Amino acid sequence: MSEPYVLVLYYSRHGATQSMAQHVAHGVESVAGINARIRTVPAVSTVCEAVEKSIPDEGAIYCTEEDLRNCAGLALGSPTRFGNMAAAMKYFLDGTTNLWLSGSLINKPAGVFTSTSTLHGGQESTLLSMMLPLMHQGMVIVGVPYAESALSTTQSGGTPYGPSHVAGTQNNLSLTEDEKTLCQALGKRIATLALQLKD
Ligand SMILES: Cc1cc2nc3c(=O)[nH]c(=O)nc-3n(C[C@H](O)[C@H](O)[C@H](O)COP(=O)(O)O)c2cc1C
Repeated sequence: MSEPYVLVLYYSRHGATQSMAQHVAHGVESVAGINARIRTVPAVSTVCEAVEKSIPDEGAIYCTEEDLRNCAGLALGSPTRFGNMAAAMKYFLDGTTNLWLSGSLINKPAGVFTSTSTLHGGQESTLLSMMLPLMHQGMVIVGVPYAESALSTTQSGGTPYGPSHVAGTQNNLSLTEDEKTLCQALGKRIATLALQLKD
């Protein structure tokens, strides 16, 4: 049987959430016996980009229902859009009724992460609202405990509800060391709990 994996599923328009996803995946891969599988979702528009190309020009490949069904854990990332997740990620989640009916995600750990342009632009409301569909799916919600000292030292993103990043109004700020540390901590925590809950 293939090794268990944590699905790191993100949407990103300008690259900030994608960068966070890579650090979350590093955290997952720091745990022995489990892998990270990075996937994205297509943008939604009047033209459905998903049917134009099956493999995007850049970033991860698109997530399938099977990627989500078979994961041992999930890290879900989205940029903040008016204090909530991006429509593309919501659209993808709204298509997971089959998984809800079959209970495929019940008792699997899940955590969330986000990027905003501004410091007080709704990171926490985004993270909390991203948890709601995951709770309907029966997943076990995983945050970041204050044992992670970066939560107390960060001058930018980073919340106990999940890692966050402040990208700036020009989307030109790189992840700070504290933001990277918290992304990796979430990935490591989901991976560790995924192995424990699996048994
Ligand atoms: C429609 C829209 C709504 C947005 N809403 C917010 C917001 O509520 N708060 C905020 O700080 N940034 C907001 N932003 C900015 C994005 O959250 C920010 O640029 C984010 O870092 C982009 O992530 P990405 O590089 O992964 O695409 C918004 C951007 C768009 C396009």
